[in-house]
Amino acid sequence: MSIIILGIESSCDDTSAAVIKDGYLLSNVVAGQAVHEAYGGVVPELASRAHQQNIVPVVHEALKRAGVTKEELSAVAFTRGPGLMGSLLVGVSFAKGFARSLGIPMIDVNHLTGHVLAHFIKEENEENTQPDFPFLCLLVSGGNSQIIRVKAYNDMEIIGQTIDDAAGEAIDKCSKVMGLGYPGGPIIDKLARQGNPKAYTFSKPHIPGFDYSFSGLKTSFLYSLRDWMKEDPDFIEHHKVDLAASLEATVVEILMDKLRKAAKEYKIKEIAVAGGVSANNGLRNAFREHAGKYGWKIFIPKFSYTTDNAAMIAITGYFKYLDKNFCSIDAPAYSRTTLS
Ligand code: KG4
Repeated sequence: MSIIILGIESSCDDTSAAVIKDGYLLSNVVAGQAVHEAYGGVVPELASRAHQQNIVPVVHEALKRAGVTKEELSAVAFTRGPGLMGSLLVGVSFAKGFARSLGIPMIDVNHLTGHVLAHFIKEENEENTQPDFPFLCLLVSGGNSQIIRVKAYNDMEIIGQTIDDAAGEAIDKCSKVMGLGYPGGPIIDKLARQGNPKAYTFSKPHIPGFDYSFSGLKTSFLYSLRDWMKEDPDFIEHHKVDLAASLEATVVEILMDKLRKAAKEYKIKEIAVAGGVSANNGLRNAFREHAGKYGWKIFIPKFSYTTDNAAMIAITGYFKYLDKNFCSIDAPAYSRTTLS
């Protein structure tokens, strides 16, 4: 009999529902929240309220697009954490109530595990190349920068992570300093394509092992701008594309330096990237260059699986379903955690 999983994601500012049947994606609906743009960042209380408005229509639409009735579902998988507590609570409560009313298992999914396992989502009429175990996954988002050694679907180890800001967070903050919109990542990416990545140099961290740090870069960017603007108050406007290109190049260099080191140390050549920042064109190009130079077999997600989506939650739920790894109705949401 087929295994059909409904996935629900509500950890930050995207309400999403997806249906996966026997590992194949049938639908993936994402409702974003434009309400935060005016504030230059996600406002937790507004996010929670928007999730409440979106969750029922989004789930309804995901089932409709999949051509699946709720009675055909095998289980409901949901993001239990990490994320914003008010946002998580909406998805967690809905998923539990929905599963309980249908008398089917509920499956809790760690958001970070979901990002990694997004590489295993299969689609009809697509090549569906997937990494072999063990592989390394660079997980880079607004809240995380980690290098993960993935030994199996259910066995992952963080071998390096940021000790302060995440890569996406640093890019977003620098973009805010430049007076650009929110989120800054896609804007910086677009500007960077027209600029010179070697125009400016910003400080890079010296952290041992495979850990990252991005707070120094943020400060260096801010102080450099302050100095340059003393000479030319319109410095940002005059040099926007070069600033974006140089900032992006520095972030990519920091990320790739440690990843290269980890790949060498662990003798792993299957290398994946995941999370919101994996949409970045500079990072994607660096992956392609490394594939050529170091013989890496690289896995870059489709754009639709880079930012938050429920397809990754549904595929993780599918693997946990195969392991009969279900959760109880009293499993609480968690705002912070590591992999599980
Ligand atoms: O994974 P994600 O959607 O949310 C979490 O943080 O969980 O990642 C969002 C982050 C933001 O910092 C956003 O600016 C960044 O991903 N981002 C990008 C690009 N698209 C999104 N950063 C650089 N280049 C992009 N094209």
